[in-house]
Amino acid sequence: MEVLFVSPEVAPLAKTGGLADVCSSLPLALAKLGIKVDIILPLYRCIKEGNFPLELVVKDLPLTFGWRNLKTNIYQTKLEKGIRAFLIECDEFFDRSSLYGKDNGYFDNGERFIFFTKAVLAFGENFEEYWDIFHCHEWQTALVPVYLKTLSAFYHKLCSVKTILTLHNLGYQGVFPPEIFPFTNLPSEIFYPNLEFWGQINFLKGGIIFSDFLTTVSPTYAQEIQTLEYGFGLDGLLRTQAHKLKGILNGVDYSEWNPETDPYIATHYSTFDLKGKEICKQDLLKTCGLPLEFMGRPILGMVTRLAEQKGIDILLPIIEKIIRKGGALVILGDGEKRYKDALKSIAACCSNQMFLKIGFDNILAHKIIAGADMFLMPSRYEACGLTQIYSLKYGTLPIVHHTGGLADTVEDADLEKAQGNGFKFYSYTPQAFFEAIEKALFCFEQKKELWLKLIQQAMACDFSWEKSAQEYVSLYEEILKNNH
Ligand code: ADP
Ligand code: GLC
Repeated sequence: MEVLFVSPEVAPLAKTGGLADVCSSLPLALAKLGIKVDIILPLYRCIKEGNFPLELVVKDLPLTFGWRNLKTNIYQTKLEKGIRAFLIECDEFFDRSSLYGKDNGYFDNGERFIFFTKAVLAFGENFEEYWDIFHCHEWQTALVPVYLKTLSAFYHKLCSVKTILTLHNLGYQGVFPPEIFPFTNLPSEIFYPNLEFWGQINFLKGGIIFSDFLTTVSPTYAQEIQTLEYGFGLDGLLRTQAHKLKGILNGVDYSEWNPETDPYIATHYSTFDLKGKEICKQDLLKTCGLPLEFMGRPILGMVTRLAEQKGIDILLPIIEKIIRKGGALVILGDGEKRYKDALKSIAACCSNQMFLKIGFDNILAHKIIAGADMFLMPSRYEACGLTQIYSLKYGTLPIVHHTGGLADTVEDADLEKAQGNGFKFYSYTPQAFFEAIEKALFCFEQKKELWLKLIQQAMACDFSWEKSAQEYVSLYEEILKNNH
């Protein structure tokens, strides 16, 4: 079975979040189960500048884009274990300083990913190889099933390809003014009701309707997105499509995120010998310029996109309270200006107890996840979340809002029974979040033995891909067999 992952991100080529991690680690896990996976994504500037060896595989592939006739070149590069990534070149759209633009994104993101979709389909139709399934990820690729289903007569080679669309985040749907619809060259009758959304064009809506199957990245999120609170206006549609929707929990790549082998941390450690974790804590304090007296006090870490989803609004009002409790806060994040500004002004007042780095820094992310005692993830919603899973493996106890994949991976500490692997709060308020932090601080300071047990329980959790990758394989087999 041959599967083509269609994704706007894959690590290490292009990454803004967990999607990139999933699109690099899941293909590896699928390969172990005998599935051949290739990946296709845009040739962004960061890839051109990243010294990846690029081999031209298709030159001057013609495609129609609205009223324009364009051409694209497709390159190939090899990732870990020889997995091929195909890269679609179009400098007009992809040779830019970031993947999607800051804050509200580039004004032409709709056009950019219509172009990408068309190029993927033209490549699939013309390249000498064949894929049984196009496994699409996020709104950027959601039009792929729309084309394949509505224009199947037009595609000779791709007409029997099956599509899966994985929903990683309902908060981003690819909604644009209807004026960009002509760039799709789709028949106008497709627009209403399949793509139309409050007068706009909604890529994800089309993908949800036309893909053969839908997955999302945790069982709880699969349920949540069918509710008014989490569906971002697509909950009604998702309820009608529930028969083809499944939540499959993300796995993680423990060859990258493992305190026993991690090349970015000060020293290695394991459940059996936690001395190394102390050295990582010391190294983190040094790296952040925080006083070494924090060795005996709790460090609360956070690595995040600074977006509304991530719960920054319930963190901001309690930062001073956390600091008054004697903890140190280390935050690494990038994203919306309003959050950057608010965090910067708080950090400026408490520089010996709070370290803030605005930006994307993979090495510092590893150091925080290893060196902190607790990891904060107060997300308003979270499809799966990977950083809390990484933190578990490093014995850095996550403090999370009970939602989506956070609900599925973190078990609240039971102080009586000494069970659990982290701390949870259930109502999305600063107070509830702070109470969970207080509980964690209490355990850290007053219940040393319990704390150690929780660390060991966290580190013993196994969220490797094996089981989830097998679920994808079963799904692939089923959609090919059943002709869903
Ligand atoms: P999301 O995809 O919603 O951002 P996840 O928890 O699934 O959340 O994945 C986030 C990924 O992005 C993790 O690999 C995390 O380490 C990484 N990450 C997020 N922000 C930063 C940052 N500022 N610097 C480095 N890595 C980051
Ligand atoms: C999205 C979600 C996150 C998930 C990631 C990978 O970015 O916000 O929860 O872990 O995709 O699936």
